[in-house]
Amino acid sequence: MRVAIIGTGYVGLTTGVCLAYMGHSVWCLDTDASKIQALCAGQIPIFEPYLDELLGAARPNLRFTTSYPDAIPGAEVVFIAVGTPPTPSGAPNLEYLSQAARMIGEHLNGDFTVVVNKSTVPIGSGNWVGSLLRDASEQRAAGNSADFAVASNPEFLREGAALHDSLYPDRIVIGADEQRALEVLYSLYRPILDQTFPAPTFLPRPEDVSAIPLVSTDLASAELIKYAANAFLALKISFINEIGLVAERVGANITEVARGIGLDSRIGPRFLNAGIGWGGSCFGKDTAALIATASEYGLHMPIVEAAKTVNTRQRDKVVEKLLHELKILKGRTVGLLGLAFKPNTDDLREAPAIEIAQKLIDRGVRVKAHDPIARERFEREHGTMGVHLCDEAEGVAEGCDALVLVTEWPEYRDLPWDRLARKMRHAFILDGRHALDREKITRSGMQYVTIS
Ligand code: UGA
Repeated sequence: MRVAIIGTGYVGLTTGVCLAYMGHSVWCLDTDASKIQALCAGQIPIFEPYLDELLGAARPNLRFTTSYPDAIPGAEVVFIAVGTPPTPSGAPNLEYLSQAARMIGEHLNGDFTVVVNKSTVPIGSGNWVGSLLRDASEQRAAGNSADFAVASNPEFLREGAALHDSLYPDRIVIGADEQRALEVLYSLYRPILDQTFPAPTFLPRPEDVSAIPLVSTDLASAELIKYAANAFLALKISFINEIGLVAERVGANITEVARGIGLDSRIGPRFLNAGIGWGGSCFGKDTAALIATASEYGLHMPIVEAAKTVNTRQRDKVVEKLLHELKILKGRTVGLLGLAFKPNTDDLREAPAIEIAQKLIDRGVRVKAHDPIARERFEREHGTMGVHLCDEAEGVAEGCDALVLVTEWPEYRDLPWDRLARKMRHAFILDGRHALDREKITRSGMQYVTIS
């Protein structure tokens, strides 16, 4: 099928590459000319494992452009995957979405086209996008409206595992109020739903994956599914962090508690890692947007609000723990292991490391940091913030009064703790992710503490 994708961020680019890999003919459009130029030259603007390899394999079916007249006429499916960043009120900024919808509307050629919201958009946006498309197409075609239907196809991929989640998803959700739109999307996703595509050698099909469940529903339900999923994941993490507080007081081990409850199949083991809490561009934005939407209907969401409160508290706990150990923070040196909001990405949006670094700097602490991938992006986006960046994780330990593990990059598990301990002024580590080997670290003479 002929597909156009508007926006080449994480979601747009991953979707484009995966659909091209399935054999569809895909145009990826972005208004950022430098991004498109880079993509045409084979350079990928984001760090995402295996994206390079899959793009190589899908290349014959992929085209990149800044031009709507190139991408839209003739496309059977147009995905809108533009950014919807949060505004101060918590409601998402829909400027890019409305621009994209107007431009698509102006270039529809009269054949039936399904326009799909893949960006996380407020409930009701499907109808709104439909009206923008209609207005734009009518203006251009002097009264003859184009033939299109709007659908919602929320994305559930995790950064760092984006291709795995797109090729082998837990489910695909499509929502539309017109049957023919659902049928087009069903055909588009058929190779993934039936798992008939040849699995790439670098991303083999997991043994337990066969057919993928399809949730085919109405527009509003699909839109709400996305928010409800992210809010639930965020509150699952906040829940274990809240239990972690009690665990700490009563002398229980939160990792054991998480394992003990996670083995209950009604609860499940994932997203129960306690620590400094969730970051990234999605959970904060989507929980805020859900609360904002509910309040438009006069509804409160105390559970979702509590998930946010608990998450903020986890960041404060880092400072509290360091204060407890070091007594005075002014003039101390603290080293952060990890900057990215989670491993396998260089994304720094809502990264706990940035919040923690700022809190420490505000208290007169000298902050050092290391990240295997995100350093360059950190310097570009934050101009170092006064943080002293080190090339090696070991360098962070030099002269430090405390280390904090912020991002659980796998390589941090095997650091030479003996050497690090000797380099530190005060051999103390706060494991903010319950990711390190307590015994190994303690043997080095370093004091090991967790966040809960
Ligand atoms: C999240 C969802 O997991 C995806 O399903 C969704 O598609 C995506 O948002 C989105 O809306 O675009 P992502 O933000 O990439 O994906 O990252 P996650 O793996 O969910 O991690 C989010 C944060 O939670 C990270 O800071 C991570 O360290 C933290 N986390 C995760 C925990 O603190 N504990 C856990 O047990 C799991």
